[in-house]
Amino acid sequence: MTWGTPLKQNALRILLLGSGELGKEMVIELQRHGIETIAADSSGGAPAHAVAHRHHIIDMFDPEALQHVIGQERPHFILTEVETVNVDVLAQAEAAGIRVVPNSRTVALTLNRESIRRLAVEELGIPAGPARTVSSYDAFQETITQMGLPCFVKPASSAHGQGLTLVTHSGETAAAWNCAAQASRRNHASQVIIEKAVDFDFEITLLAVNAVNGLHFCEPIGHQHRPGSYCQSWQPQSMSAAALGKAHDYAEKIVRALGGHGVFSVELFIKGDQVWFSEVSARPHDTGYVTQLSQNINQFALHVRAMLDLPVPEIKLIRPSACAVILAERPGQFITYSGMDEALAIPEARLRIFGKPNARLHRRLGLVMAGADTIETACKRACEAASKITLSITDDPPGPCREPGERENTQPSNAGP
Ligand SMILES: Nc1ncnc2c1ncn2[C@@H]1O[C@H](COP(=O)(O)OP(=O)(O)OP(=O)(O)O)[C@@H](O)[C@H]1O
Ligand SMILES: [Mg+2]
Repeated sequence: MTWGTPLKQNALRILLLGSGELGKEMVIELQRHGIETIAADSSGGAPAHAVAHRHHIIDMFDPEALQHVIGQERPHFILTEVETVNVDVLAQAEAAGIRVVPNSRTVALTLNRESIRRLAVEELGIPAGPARTVSSYDAFQETITQMGLPCFVKPASSAHGQGLTLVTHSGETAAAWNCAAQASRRNHASQVIIEKAVDFDFEITLLAVNAVNGLHFCEPIGHQHRPGSYCQSWQPQSMSAAALGKAHDYAEKIVRALGGHGVFSVELFIKGDQVWFSEVSARPHDTGYVTQLSQNINQFALHVRAMLDLPVPEIKLIRPSACAVILAERPGQFITYSGMDEALAIPEARLRIFGKPNARLHRRLGLVMAGADTIETACKRACEAASKITLSITDDPPGPCREPGERENTQPSNAGP
């Protein structure tokens, strides 16, 4: 493949659908390769908008709006970062010769929890916990009664943790249905999936990279969640050789069945030597940020290399590393960050503030990564550093930001009597 210079006639143009923090890293990595980037999102001020050559604010479910942007920008590639996209338009774009990464069928399959589960469990024989998709409240109640608690209730369309509830008591079922059904409707769908809670020791994301020079695996990434968002991830997650072998085998089966070049984030539950399928997305993963510190080549660079049919090098773990997220504790229009000096005084700490324009409850606003000789120390460092960042979230405009070295409430030193 050859390409020219961004903003010139011979540029290679990539349209990114979804412009969050992962998209921002993708845009930066694409620009390192001299590629023209266009970032679309449903809201303005999205993190990737700040770094792309151009951006659009559109409802990506709306076929006309999406077709219009594709027609106007004439991208050579389309990348998706979110599930809220019109997959029919992607299929048409692909038929017209635009490369959808990794392919439009995979985007369609992975944004629906039931269809990707069917592929993994029924076609590929990968173990998974019991699950059922329903469209009515009666069927939902009946399924919960049959399946028993605890169970997870989620919108059938994948939605970055939105609309997900762990139900442990029968009194929680109605609220869980409402929450999942509402999130489902936001994605122009109506179905809700009920999954029996899998009793696991730990869960991993296995990043598999399908590239022109073969299939490559990263070391497993362990992660921990609290409802709606992951709060910590680390790499490597130690696991038995038997479980790792199964994880590689299942991930390879999934990647081969889906096809196309790129990073595939395969989420799995592990107990001893047993491995269960959780979900898969065909792009870098939020728990995979840690690879910016832990690996010789991070997940964003791997995705770019793979999609451009460039060879992927041997992937090496260079340092046990961990990542802890910074979450908003209330909604608000203005966010002021402080404590960065204290956070970065922690050994090997690195900070990412996503630059989101406003806060929602539990919205991920940034993260801290840290390396160490051991995973335990890396996790401790990352959590400690994240706890040093304090957020002031308001609806009223705050004062201007302080200059470096300037202190709060400092009296002018030359103030006369
Ligand atoms: N069936 C299950 N058994 C046990 N834990 C589960 C199950 N389903 C979900 N979880 C827990 O909830 C987390 C989020 O679930 P899931 O990955 O399906 O949601 P998501 O909307 O895709 O969120 P994300 O974008 O953060 O991955 C999982 O990583 C796991 O910790
Ligand atoms: Mg997940």
